[in-house]
Amino acid sequence: MAYGFMDIARTPAVRAAQAEMGADHLWADFEGHRDFDRFTEQEAGFIAQQDTLYLASVSETGWPYVQHRGGPPGFLKMIDNQTLAFADYRGNRQYISTGNVKAHDRACMILVDYARRARLKIYVHAETLALDAEPQLTERVLDKGYGAKPERLFRLRLQAFDWNCPQHITRRYTETQIAAVAQPLRERIAQLERENAALQARFGPGGAPPG
Ligand SMILES: Cc1cc2nc3c(=O)[nH]c(=O)nc-3n(C[C@H](O)[C@H](O)[C@H](O)COP(=O)(O)O)c2cc1C
Repeated sequence: MAYGFMDIARTPAVRAAQAEMGADHLWADFEGHRDFDRFTEQEAGFIAQQDTLYLASVSETGWPYVQHRGGPPGFLKMIDNQTLAFADYRGNRQYISTGNVKAHDRACMILVDYARRARLKIYVHAETLALDAEPQLTERVLDKGYGAKPERLFRLRLQAFDWNCPQHITRRYTETQIAAVAQPLRERIAQLERENAALQARFGPGGAPPG
């Protein structure tokens, strides 16, 4: 049966490691269908909420390289069910990911949603595009009002994706998420402060009825 992600990942050395651990039969005789070569509504919804991704590329000398990319939630755009794109902003001007994908277009991304404890890994063919190469795409991908200087687009053609289990993902929350959760508490505190002030005005700071 198909297991697109593992078809890529199961190199001879990986197979040997799986065999050594008695796990090779799990993947060799995979019963089921996990030929995830098209995004569904589930991935679309997940990707639209993410503000971070990690992109692994490979250099011409065979060294892997991993780098963070981020932006406002939904900065990674789903162009169609096999294509993603994001704006690449000016940074330290090392251009390592950019150079790597020009030499080798195979890349792997992982998106981790710490609050929801979910992670999605995605094999892609990656390319960079000048901002004026495909104006309609650029228009769609750039987040207007985001205060950073875009230098290029990354376009990512899906090869295979897979979901991981939530194991060992420690929950973390963004400021925005915390603000939303804290808002009812803030309102409650404000209400109690008002009540407290009214009671103090009536009964004095110690709470005893005046004189
Ligand atoms: C002024 C400035 C300095 C930065 N310095 C570093 C750094 O020393 N190391 C690093 O990994 N990222 C640094 N960053 C973030 C990277 O530039 C950013 O993640 C960029 O996308 C890296 O792309 P690359 O690793 O593919 O070259 C810096 C960003 C800015 C704006």
